[in-house]
Amino acid sequence: MITEVLEKSYQRYANKRPLSEEQNALAKTFLPSGTTRSVLDFAPFPFTVVSAAGCRLTDVDGHEYLDYLGDYSVGLAGHNPRAVREAVTATLEQGWSFGAVAAEETDVARMLCERFASLELVRFTSSGTEANLVAISLALKSSGRSKVLVFDGGYHGGFLSFSRGRPSLNVPFDVVICDYNDLDSVQAAFDTWPEQIGCVLVEPMLGSGGRIRAAAGFLQGIRALCDANGCVLVFDEVQTSRMSYGGGQALLGVAPDLTTLGKYIGGGFGFGVVGGASELMLQIARGREPYYDHSGTFNNNRFSMAASSAMLSAILTRQNLDALFARGEDLRQRADALLRTYGFQATGWGSLIGIHPTTAPLTRAGDLTGTDRRLLELLFHEMLERGVYIGKSGFVTLSLPQTPATDDLFLTALHHSLQALSEGGLLERCS
Ligand SMILES: Cc1ncc(COP(=O)(O)O)c(C=O)c1O
Repeated sequence: MITEVLEKSYQRYANKRPLSEEQNALAKTFLPSGTTRSVLDFAPFPFTVVSAAGCRLTDVDGHEYLDYLGDYSVGLAGHNPRAVREAVTATLEQGWSFGAVAAEETDVARMLCERFASLELVRFTSSGTEANLVAISLALKSSGRSKVLVFDGGYHGGFLSFSRGRPSLNVPFDVVICDYNDLDSVQAAFDTWPEQIGCVLVEPMLGSGGRIRAAAGFLQGIRALCDANGCVLVFDEVQTSRMSYGGGQALLGVAPDLTTLGKYIGGGFGFGVVGGASELMLQIARGREPYYDHSGTFNNNRFSMAASSAMLSAILTRQNLDALFARGEDLRQRADALLRTYGFQATGWGSLIGIHPTTAPLTRAGDLTGTDRRLLELLFHEMLERGVYIGKSGFVTLSLPQTPATDDLFLTALHHSLQALSEGGLLERCS
């Protein structure tokens, strides 16, 4: 029955988007699956966007969408924020790709070190994936060990994705996979390989793995185990750094040895940061012993530097970040109350929300095994039908141009979508 309903919703979707369908057919001639990011590929075909402004997207067939995906958390400032546009326009006038240093790099590095307490030195990369690759490498080099402890459902980039049972293109680090929020499994790993685990890489909230929050004491416990075992602790804050001016780590009161950042800080341009304790970062400082080269043609690309400078100085203020966090907490609670009446729930932290087709407690990625992903896909299509764009896996990300009024529109669309599924006999109302 679900398959039939899904087929009908594909048909309804396709009928309204002939030009996107045509574009997708052409794209498939040259791009595997017609896409450049697996995460943006969905059935029957993704719509093609022609323009965006604020929190709205317009597709080639003329449909407008309220954007509650926020490019998987890149779009914190919304589309085309003025400060970023002005900074990038100025860069266009001055020139780019110097093959030399420019002063902005230092400004961006200074602003990052000033706001994230655990950052003493930083190095830029082109993406969050690369930042994590550098962080792991620095941790293993400094500890002289070989193993990296990660968590099931942890996503740290296209080559660092650790969902048990799911094939990946991962780089061949020697990884030990533990369960999120299960400190005993981390303790057991250290008991088994006390001299071999040189790096723990963890997200302060399991992001792509379900937007599952860290339980009280979990990250503190990991910090203590790393200290006791001489292991480097890396926080991947590519998603969670938006939680406060000082990142998720400031709210949690836990300081990692290294932190990785990316996504929204680059204002929509390719961006990544690895930073932390001087003694670790100085491994890539000329003249130090040992010294490791670390280059990347686009590490200091001028558009990313100009855009991140504008983001940090004009947009990512304490006030904006605190307001976004508070609005996210409020929206999640309201969405959760609604979702639970239809057998779903909302998880998350601040402005990052995950929708799941179960009301069972979710503390680790494995808790999602066996949930019916087709229900999420149907919900995704029902939301599109009502002009609201969320992630195909139920991810919702807030951005600054949204308002309490757009949140109400989002909740109304969610309510009507759930009702439609319920009336179609696919969901039971729980109360
Ligand atoms: C927590 C986390 N780390 C790292 C990455 C990888 O960043 P990028 O896509 O810029 O390589 C992502 C991307 O989704 C992420 O969510």
